[in-house]
Amino acid sequence: MKKLIVAIDGHSGCGKSTTAKLLAEQLNYMYIDSGAMYRAVTLYFLRQGIAPDDVFQVKQSLEQIDITFEVNPESGKSEIVLNGEKIEAQIRTMEVSGKVSEVSAIPVVRRFLVEQQQKLGENKGIVMDGRDIGTVVFPEAEVKVFMTADIMQRAMRRQKELVKKGQKVDLSSIIDNLSSRDFQDSNRDDSPLRKADDAVVLDTSNITIAQQTERILEVVQQKLTKE
Ligand code: DC
Repeated sequence: MKKLIVAIDGHSGCGKSTTAKLLAEQLNYMYIDSGAMYRAVTLYFLRQGIAPDDVFQVKQSLEQIDITFEVNPESGKSEIVLNGEKIEAQIRTMEVSGKVSEVSAIPVVRRFLVEQQQKLGENKGIVMDGRDIGTVVFPEAEVKVFMTADIMQRAMRRQKELVKKGQKVDLSSIIDNLSSRDFQDSNRDDSPLRKADDAVVLDTSNITIAQQTERILEVVQQKLTKE
């Protein structure tokens, strides 16, 4: 059967990753969380004390970074690995969230990761979520979705996720982080977050994850039956 590329972009915290993961499972496609790759680089910079404005150090340190994805045999979910270390939990902290937009605005970091993302999609059959997937990484993707949602809904969902992981963070810090990331991600010079002209818009404020997944699945099925 023909395999497609599904590109899901949108604002921070509107359920892109959860939906993309479910969609990939249902389609039997590979799922790649491109945001996790930017978070992995951010974690590395934080640990090594690399200043994002030190272009020389940034370039040198990228040569030391190896990012892969491994399927966890227990959960069946793909998890990010940085230089052999599983860092799925370490990249979801507020410290990393507070720095990741700055790091992802660095052009050399973007070139480094976009190249790897494009390689991962060479054989299609992939669902990738992020900010520039439908515009820069896979402008030829057959299915493009742009997700957005009310900021309060997004913050409350994010707070629940963090609580589940044992992190207690107040709602106002989450709102601040989400809105400042939206602003920085949409206003940077290199590959800003924007809706691709041919993307389907999905507002997830009042729908469940199952409904979001179902809507995108419908778009995929339409494409598969048309072509
Ligand atoms: O999807 P996320 O919230 O985990 O992404 C973290 C940050 O990474 C986000 O604020 C912006 C950046 N990012 C990006 O610039 N381009 C992507 N394709 C994915 C994420």
